[in-house]
Amino acid sequence: MPEFMEPFRIKAVEPIPFPTTDERREALDRAGHNLFRVPASAITIDLLTDSGTSAMSAAQWAALLSGDESYAGARSFENFETVVRDLTGYDEVLPVHQGRAAERILLGTVLAPGEVSISNTHFDTTRAAVESTGATAVDLPVSQRSPSAFGGDLDLASLRAWLGGADGSRVRCVVLTVTNNATGGQPVSLSNIAKTRELCDRYGVMLLLDASRFAENAYLISERESGHSHRSPREVAQLVFALADGCWASLKKDGMANIGGMIAVRDGELARRCREQLIAFEGFPTYGGLAGRDLDALAQGLLEVTDPAYLEYRAKTARWFGEKLAEAGLPVLQPTGCHAVYVDAGELLPNVPPHQLPATALANELYLAGAVRVSDLGTLVFGRATAHGEDIAAPRELVRFALPRRVYTKSHLEYVAETAAAVAAKAGQIAGYGIVEQAESLRHFTAVLRPLDRPVDRTPASERPART
Ligand SMILES: Cc1ncc(COP(=O)(O)O)c(C=O)c1O
Repeated sequence: MPEFMEPFRIKAVEPIPFPTTDERREALDRAGHNLFRVPASAITIDLLTDSGTSAMSAAQWAALLSGDESYAGARSFENFETVVRDLTGYDEVLPVHQGRAAERILLGTVLAPGEVSISNTHFDTTRAAVESTGATAVDLPVSQRSPSAFGGDLDLASLRAWLGGADGSRVRCVVLTVTNNATGGQPVSLSNIAKTRELCDRYGVMLLLDASRFAENAYLISERESGHSHRSPREVAQLVFALADGCWASLKKDGMANIGGMIAVRDGELARRCREQLIAFEGFPTYGGLAGRDLDALAQGLLEVTDPAYLEYRAKTARWFGEKLAEAGLPVLQPTGCHAVYVDAGELLPNVPPHQLPATALANELYLAGAVRVSDLGTLVFGRATAHGEDIAAPRELVRFALPRRVYTKSHLEYVAETAAAVAAKAGQIAGYGIVEQAESLRHFTAVLRPLDRPVDRTPASERPART
């Protein structure tokens, strides 16, 4: 018996493209050296994100067909609401089309200009939502210097200092991102959440969860935190939700579907104010920007995602894949979480300084070597352009090999590890990138880059040949 295997069999298949070396080079050039701009038709294995990329189960496809598309009061909403209430214990459930819509509505309702949101790490869209209200997003992750079972935790000493300090009265909410995507997909422990709750109570601050990967966080608690191994992932998740005032989630992750999000809170008055925004920007409160069928697929997905056999397979896949990438010569962050394996590109490419985007350089090299797409979580994403045009470096130059749920088999991941080995073998020759064009916010999605080992192309992007 292998250590793990996929706890499902495959019912529908989709061919994958195998672009040649020249086609890969051309695709990357046309994309301004930004993998977000490379068409999926030029990707062999797509580990860009685990978001919205899940394979749905037969039961979810069946649920789609029973979707109720009534504008108001659809049965699909009732199904969704029942599942979310049972899972979270929060009475007020608002569907939205994806996570960032939830962030915009909930944080836009909670926060006012001059206030502060503190988090173990605001994900990039969360930070954008906080800052768009005129509030400040402060990240207080625990030190990432040495491996820890709960590297996603919030630094409680720093939180205490903030809440009791001169600016403490400005803190309106604490946000725990479970798992902590930006710091390596590491879980947040139940004890950290409980202690955060105590501090929030002491200072009268709201505690919210970004619960996009609540099931994976719960599984890792039951696996790693003493005193919880006898609990099912669902029971652990329920304990976590019970400690907070509310949550939002991108259900494109642990909702096991391709679109969707939610806000779920205890406070009826907060929900009423959010619903006003929901109606204005998403849709009527019983569909919130989704089709009825999406709500049914999500309701089913939210039941499946806490299946212990599925979560065990998911965690073991990430661990095994991390070992394969480490054997290939990549510096893998340990321990691995569930949704991705993270690699430290700064360590692999010490000759590429942060402002030359080592994470981007490694990601692009993996694409050129094998049409593997991963994502850059380094200075392009988390660095900030200063008024002088220089970049403040991200804390770490991470590259994320995200694992879409139930999509790729072990042999697909073996191919990725082989591609990684070819790249690692020539690490010393990999050059960095410069930024040619960038947006003010969330620049990594659209930035145009240039390889620093090639002469500058002065043609404006708008005049470069379009893809046909
Ligand atoms: C932790 C976290 N929060 C929020 C989001 C935003 O969700 P969405 O992409 O559905 O807007 C993401 C997306 O990756 C995420 O990982």
